[in-house]
Amino acid sequence: MPSVYIKTYGCQMNERDSEAVAAQLVAKGYSLAASEHVADVVLLNTCSVRDNAEQTALGKMAAVIGDAKKNRPGQVFGFLGCMAQSRGKELIDRLPDVDLVLGTQKFHRAAEYLDDLLAGKRDQVVDVEEESGSEGTIREHLLNGNAKARSVTAFVSIMQGCNQHCTFCIVPYTRGEERSRTIPDIVAECRELVTQGVKEITLLGQIVTSYGRRGRDASSPNCSRDGGGALHALRRGVAATPFVQLIEAVHELEGLERIRFTSPHPKGYGQDLVEAYGRLPKLVESAHLPVQSGSDRVLKLMHRGYTRARYLEIIRQLRAARPGIGITTDIIVGFPGETEADFTETLSLCREVEFDNAYLFKYSPRKDTPAAAMPDQLPEALIEERHARVLGLVNEIGKRKYDALVGRKVEILVEGPSRKNPARLTGRTRCNKIVVFEGSERHRGELLDVKITRTGSFTLYGDPAIVNL
Ligand code: 5AD
Repeated sequence: MPSVYIKTYGCQMNERDSEAVAAQLVAKGYSLAASEHVADVVLLNTCSVRDNAEQTALGKMAAVIGDAKKNRPGQVFGFLGCMAQSRGKELIDRLPDVDLVLGTQKFHRAAEYLDDLLAGKRDQVVDVEEESGSEGTIREHLLNGNAKARSVTAFVSIMQGCNQHCTFCIVPYTRGEERSRTIPDIVAECRELVTQGVKEITLLGQIVTSYGRRGRDASSPNCSRDGGGALHALRRGVAATPFVQLIEAVHELEGLERIRFTSPHPKGYGQDLVEAYGRLPKLVESAHLPVQSGSDRVLKLMHRGYTRARYLEIIRQLRAARPGIGITTDIIVGFPGETEADFTETLSLCREVEFDNAYLFKYSPRKDTPAAAMPDQLPEALIEERHARVLGLVNEIGKRKYDALVGRKVEILVEGPSRKNPARLTGRTRCNKIVVFEGSERHRGELLDVKITRTGSFTLYGDPAIVNL
């Protein structure tokens, strides 16, 4: 049977989509190749959030094709995901040796198309149509994939698409309108994962806090579950959103230890979600809350739907509900028209919040987005300079926050060997910080208390002598 190599660019949603495609192909008898040099099929699952990500994937595909022409005739090439969706056939016009262009609503068709391409039944396939119900098709997992050992953590896709239309963002065009799976469907997938030994589940979507708000009514009786959280919230006079109802339902799974989710939108942090942090122990004290800018003027231009003050209020509430909660963010540097005063507001917001970490993005104009047509696009050199300044600040604050954990005992979920040094094990704290320690394979999947002895760059090290054995 043929072998496939899948390379993934971009976010956790893309990682998850690739996993589901790999699982689908393995179920059909394909094997997973270790690199593009030994595979019959090479798939690049792409990201369109910044031009850089697109250029990297285009360059990679050109290089793979060039090399294959010399060494591997007959190799099949495919682009999957966001860039496939936004560029479609244009990708084949540009790289005529590409055999497959598969959009974000078509991952479940990968095996069928590849079978046809390999059998010579089709020449080239471009499928980037919308497909109703596709949000429910990303469900296969590869728990025993490459690693042989079982997976401890798993990602579960709960929705697709985004209707927020931030002015800088291409996602509404690559991922489409918001579509949510039902609560019973998601819970069934989570239950199956827990049965297979998964201890931590991350609920995934482009804007998870909008789960169930559009399209199919996830809070209707045949979709929702009864009682529990919704009633609890109602007693307090807070109507539980479908997202909180979903967390409640997943929380009930016996054997599941931790629940995470990404990415939320700050406007989705209503009272019911903040309150959920206070009473659901499996919901870990960690939040990735993309702020994008600290300036109200820029937030408005971005169409973010909150102010700096509202964002700070959410952080205050979360810290009141869960002291020590780990908070990370995304920041865009150099949005069109960003002045030095606007940028200073972003720096001061970073100082005020003290993020545990922040992912910094240099603004990149994206096709068909309103921001690409805004006046005052900033010169690259200025964006670079601001990027360096905010990076310095984020690193300084992060180091301080990580160093403060030295000498403290933290609970980690052991995930497996460290990628950088397989002789060591790695796990994550509830606040989502990576801890490296010298334990043994048998600790995989366990919750352990570890004492932190030192820190590296956004990494904690635990002392093996102080691990509870
Ligand atoms: N330019 C730069 N960064 C962007 N992001 C989204 N669109 C753009 C863009 N056009 C960033 C945002 C988002 C993260 C996933 O990518 O910060 O939260």
